[in-house]
Amino acid sequence: MTVTLRLARTQDAPAIAVMSRDLIEAGLGWQYQPRRICRLIEDPDTSVLLACDRGGPAGFAIMTFGDERAHLVLFAVRATRRRQGIGRRMMEWLVASALTAGIASIHLELRADNRAARVFYRAMGFAEAGVLPGYYQGREAAVCMVRMLRKAGPLPLDWRPLLDKR
Ligand SMILES: CC(C)(COP(=O)(O)OP(=O)(O)OC[C@H]1O[C@@H](n2cnc3c(N)ncnc32)[C@H](O)[C@@H]1OP(=O)(O)O)[C@@H](O)C(=O)NCCC(=O)NCCS
Repeated sequence: MTVTLRLARTQDAPAIAVMSRDLIEAGLGWQYQPRRICRLIEDPDTSVLLACDRGGPAGFAIMTFGDERAHLVLFAVRATRRRQGIGRRMMEWLVASALTAGIASIHLELRADNRAARVFYRAMGFAEAGVLPGYYQGREAAVCMVRMLRKAGPLPLDWRPLLDKR
């Protein structure tokens, strides 16, 4: 089935929020509700990407862009559409955008027990950069992963490591 990629519109927010709840946040509480997804869609420093087929949304990705670092906030493909290259296509789109924006590195965190995603991100050129115990609601560890796109410039004086996105 043909899949097209496009930027999300505010009316896509409920479907994206439900995918986040069911495919990513299961068991953690629902942090990315429609209003929060709407704000991300409207944020000029964030790309909310939707993969669609005739049946509707098949996957989505959200990435925020800083000056040199981009942060992959959420990323998922519907269970019935996995291992068909949709995740790879969304990642290639995001990496191309990041390169155009002059980004030096893409960072992400994921649940430490999410083995499939760890294998996926490694296949997409990411390397594991550390573990944050209790990152998710004080009870689940996160693995941090990074993909370098180019050599970074010096860190700004006010830079601090990301400790908790929730
Ligand atoms: C991780 C995820 C996004 C991958 O999406 P996908 O569309 O299935 O990925 P692709 O088909 O593009 O896979 C690309 C490559 O990644 C690797 N890969 C992907 N899923 C894999 C799995 N379950 N096991 C092993 N390798 C896997 C393979 O090398 C694959 O290439 P191949 O199919 O030619 O062997 C998807 O499994 C998912 O949505 N999981 C639930 C949500 C989630 O965990 N999101 C990430 C954390 S926020």
